[in-house]
Amino acid sequence: MATRFPLERFAQVETPFYYYDLDVLRLTLDTVVREAAKHDFVVHYAVKANANPRLLNEIRQAGLGIDCVSGGEVRCALEHGFDAKKIVFAGVGKSDWEIDLALDADIECLNVESIPEMEVINERAMAKGRVADICLRVNPNVDAHTHQYITTGMEENKFGIGLWEVEAACRRAEELPCINLVGFHFHIGSQITDMSAFQVLCTRVNELLRWAEEHKINLSVVNVGGGLGVDYEHPDEMPLPDFADYFSTFARHLELRSGQQVHFELGRSIVAQCGSLVTKVLYVKKGQKKQFAVVDAGMNDLIRPALYHAYHKIENISSALPVEKYDVVGPVCESSDCFGKEIQLPAVSRGDLIALRSAGAYGETMASRYNLRKFAQGVYSD
Ligand code: LLP
Repeated sequence: MATRFPLERFAQVETPFYYYDLDVLRLTLDTVVREAAKHDFVVHYAVKANANPRLLNEIRQAGLGIDCVSGGEVRCALEHGFDAKKIVFAGVGKSDWEIDLALDADIECLNVESIPEMEVINERAMAKGRVADICLRVNPNVDAHTHQYITTGMEENKFGIGLWEVEAACRRAEELPCINLVGFHFHIGSQITDMSAFQVLCTRVNELLRWAEEHKINLSVVNVGGGLGVDYEHPDEMPLPDFADYFSTFARHLELRSGQQVHFELGRSIVAQCGSLVTKVLYVKKGQKKQFAVVDAGMNDLIRPALYHAYHKIENISSALPVEKYDVVGPVCESSDCFGKEIQLPAVSRGDLIALRSAGAYGETMASRYNLRKFAQGVYSD
């Protein structure tokens, strides 16, 4: 399913804007739901990837739960009608008010990242006369072979409880009266396209499940996080990640005990391909060695290229002229405000619309007002 850009409509809209193809999103959601159901897997959407209300509405209607990493995200999930019992809350630094919010809303589960955090949750739950359901986030020390900034499951990363500390954390959970340990949580990183990383994760998870069984620790939830990658090179040819292969990797390799349910937290794979950042060419600036297409979107609208050297396919959706080479740059006063170098585009003129593809995940949510620029608005295919 290729995204078609309605150029006549775009002529009326102020640029830059995020364009969301809701057909792509719906097809993605149908596929995730169908493939997960084959194995009785539960999927939570990682709202950090995109919290746009129109998208959240579709995601809630598809029946997904929601994975949050801040009080703001928990509040957003509640405000957008997600059932509190489908909200999970992770994060290495939860403030007291965030813990209170989660307890008051009686969410499904807090994913706990350290023993001191567990103790604070216990205290605050006790003050409210409640018992908090928690998963222990375990750092499995698995290399996800992805960008260093989005690798989370290695010992040197700040996330989760080290393997060496799992036993102490389980014992502490048993001692604390207002903590109910329901499972283990893992997340090894993001934009992972090689299923062997997930296979290694399964091996680590199996070792821990075996250990827990031997120590009579009852676990009902095995949360393996998110991380499934998308094809940034081919947004139209490959709009859907291979959810079937992804889920069946876990189905084949996990050794579950009876009553254990597998949870996933998918962000990027659900929303990346439905979104494009659409921007207008302000000027074509010819240098001696190269030419620049200066566009009206900047790194504040989509920071991934500047921050991670991430690739987003760039298309000139207004022109069918023979191609030329451009550096596509934004107006922000930073040299890193560049979306791509030496990009072949149909010859560009002032006023052409440029689409930065696969920008539905970690685009809008990571936008800032740097240089006191405006936030780009959303435009929807329907
Ligand atoms: N669960 C946890 C605990 C996470 O930390 C994350 C993402 C996810 C789930 C969702 O992962 P996904 O399925 O989207 O890969 N801003 C970066 C990505 C940061 C990911 C942070 N954690 C980027 O633009 O590439």
